[in-house]
Amino acid sequence: MRYRVVIPAAGSGRRLASAIPKQYLEVAGRTVIEHALTPFLTDARCLEVVVVIAADDARWPVVERALADRRLRSVPGGAERADSVWHGLAALQPAIAADDWVLVHDAARPCLSVAELETLLHELAQHEAGGLLAVPLADTLKRAVGDSPWQSAKTVDRSGLWRALTPQMFRYALLRRALEEARAAGRTPTDEAQAIEWTGRVPQIVVGDVRNIKVTTAADLELVAALLAARSAAEPR
Ligand code: CTP
Ligand code: MG
Repeated sequence: MRYRVVIPAAGSGRRLASAIPKQYLEVAGRTVIEHALTPFLTDARCLEVVVVIAADDARWPVVERALADRRLRSVPGGAERADSVWHGLAALQPAIAADDWVLVHDAARPCLSVAELETLLHELAQHEAGGLLAVPLADTLKRAVGDSPWQSAKTVDRSGLWRALTPQMFRYALLRRALEEARAAGRTPTDEAQAIEWTGRVPQIVVGDVRNIKVTTAADLELVAALLAARSAAEPR
């Protein structure tokens, strides 16, 4: 099975508030985005990778040169993540077929493992639309009211609730049409699966790994450093 990849990397990381956008912070000896790209660039089934960057991004060209992989390309992104993914899809090679697979993976998720990617590809291989990695919620959920300090007004039933991760993997034409329809309707999906859901299709959930975290705050970066250190210690030398 062969596939193509779109990496949204055009965000500014407001919630982390570092001088350097979070995808370019270094952790375990490499930038976050390099870690995010590694499972794809080490996979011969990956045909091309479009990295969607901010218009003023001077860091990507440096990373791209260091990676020196002919499958890599970059295009400017948009105001919202969905806009960036849209631009990324439009930049895929024209030879792409309607039912080719496209994987969308956040540049801010540096801990995707080869095993988790393998599970996603394997479980969706025969699916007509596609799906996403997700993990079931583990903690008790509270509906808070007021402002800091918030009040716990009630407990929300967490059964059936999952956290959506990336990669999300869909057939090219279907995903492109779903995002196009959302744009035409003036709606902004927070992930690809939501755009697909709006078309009436039902993305399949593939059980992901809780270690596949997205860097959002400085604390996440500490977790990523610990996870990547543990992984490299476990690798055979
Ligand atoms: N992203 C993008 N284009 C945007 C916004 C986000 O390509 N207009 C990308 C980010 O670079 C990131 C991924 O989408 O790889 C997930 O978004 P998020 O974690 O929200 O990153 P930021 O938007 O950069 O962070 P924040 O929301 O804290 O500003
Ligand atoms: Mg954001």
